[in-house]
Amino acid sequence: MRKKITLIGAGQIGGTLAHLIALKELGDVVLFDVAAGIAKGKALDIAQSSPINKFNINLLGTDNYEDTKNSDVIIITAGVPRKPGMTRDDLLGINLKIIKQVANGIRKTSPNAFVICITNPLDVIVMALQKYSGLPKNKVIGMAGILDSSRFIYFLSQELKVPVQKIKSFVLGGHGDTMVAMLESTEIDGKKILDLVKEGKVKQQKLNEIVDRTKSGGAEIVKLLGNGSAFYAPAASGVEMAESYLKDLKKQLPCAAYLNGEYGTKDLYAGVPVIIGSSGVEKVVEIKLSNQEKENFKKSIDAVKELFNAAKKIDPSL
Ligand code: APR
Repeated sequence: MRKKITLIGAGQIGGTLAHLIALKELGDVVLFDVAAGIAKGKALDIAQSSPINKFNINLLGTDNYEDTKNSDVIIITAGVPRKPGMTRDDLLGINLKIIKQVANGIRKTSPNAFVICITNPLDVIVMALQKYSGLPKNKVIGMAGILDSSRFIYFLSQELKVPVQKIKSFVLGGHGDTMVAMLESTEIDGKKILDLVKEGKVKQQKLNEIVDRTKSGGAEIVKLLGNGSAFYAPAASGVEMAESYLKDLKKQLPCAAYLNGEYGTKDLYAGVPVIIGSSGVEKVVEIKLSNQEKENFKKSIDAVKELFNAAKKIDPSL
């Protein structure tokens, strides 16, 4: 039987997710949005491309949670995106309310789903989603690390003129200004980037600039678009997570996962490498961090904690 994938939020990311999932034939797609016309219109538009692109899945647009019942995967992008000059944290109050509605919508109808949250501010929203929905912690996860890592790798590739396929790296911590690029684990065509810096082949200054550009990678796009935030790369990242779950690929991917002591952090969601397979988050992979990385990771964790405390002030039931 085909898998059922529900997308809550049929905006820029939701629509792109639906299109990518259709092209990859990962499963039938239900596009849910409070703006029913957008969900229905996008579902119909994508479905009408099936004779051209030769995919064979069903697409449905709806504003009724009944249509989403028994989903295998749910990807949530319901919420408000940033406007130029805003940080992700500025979205907290409004998106917290929206995520509460979504949690109530999915908790009874799809108790076995693997739920991927993309709505910002990511780490705090995914944690709230897990609490509001009561769904198991290994089945509720946030998308951020794949996107941040992908941006970092792309910038490195452009600067060093090396194809992206030959670059290995990832970015951990919270999905905000404190995210941590893992320089110790960054390899360019099999060589450690820090060795390339020592050998003078990559300038430290340039590397710092790339790290900074990665941190503000989302804001750069918000500014360029003028109205809305990034959607192609965020959608591609969400699909990679869904695919690893649906096909039991057990890929190691940087994601916002629930930490229960790993990385010295308890009872908090933050970006770490995890294995995603048919049981959901099957493992949090603990890689060795340098002292500098540890320090930066801690700062990032503290920023997530602080924002979660702000969320608790808005909604004491959290
Ligand atoms: N239930 C379902 N859908 C909702 C709800 C709700 N309670 N509230 C809003 N939506 C829908 C909107 O109608 C809109 O179609 O969510 C959609 C969001 O789409 P966009 O505004 O295009 O935003 P998008 O770029 O897709 O980003 C969504 O992901 O990366 C984050 O920061 C981004 O928080 C933002 C989210």
